[in-house]
Amino acid sequence: MTDAAPMSFYDEVGGHEVFERLVHLFYQGVATDPVLTPMYPADDMDGAERRLTMFLAQYWGGPNTYSQERGHPRLRMRHQAFHVNPDARDRWLGHMRDAMDELQLPPLHDATLWDYLQRAAHSLVNTFEPTPASTTPTSTTKEPS
Ligand code: HEM
Repeated sequence: MTDAAPMSFYDEVGGHEVFERLVHLFYQGVATDPVLTPMYPADDMDGAERRLTMFLAQYWGGPNTYSQERGHPRLRMRHQAFHVNPDARDRWLGHMRDAMDELQLPPLHDATLWDYLQRAAHSLVNTFEPTPASTTPTSTTKEPS
């Protein structure tokens, strides 16, 4: 027993199934969000779900499928194309929090994952400009009645 490798967080928390459920619940929330939805590829939401699941699984010590399929994560670079301001960040985190609340992980696992997600989300903010009007449904100009 002494030479057993320490268990990864990925294994401890429940393996692939847990990350899959987390990300699936998360994207259900994103789908209801008027600021975030327009950023995501409407025709490839399954792909988006898979990419985030694989990334998180790999980060926490699971299989390295993400890197095999996508190469180096370079998350800051990959998010440059999106308008990640504090509002988008807080919405993203809000949907993650809701998803985590549904999962009901043990408190220490919850805290570990949540702490990481918060730090990662803060590090990906790339603008302080307000959300461009063209991506918000409320910008649809209506004829005055
Ligand atoms: C801060 C708010 C965030 C916003 C608004 C945001 C938005 C997006 C969008 C629109 C995509 C493209 C979806 C796709 O086609 O895959 C994406 C991809 C991705 N995001 Fe985020 N994201 C945020 C935070 C995060 C965080 C905190 C992480 C990691 C912990 C993350 C990890 C990823 C990954 C792994 C991908 C797929 C990259 C690829 O391989 O192309 N994102 N994100």
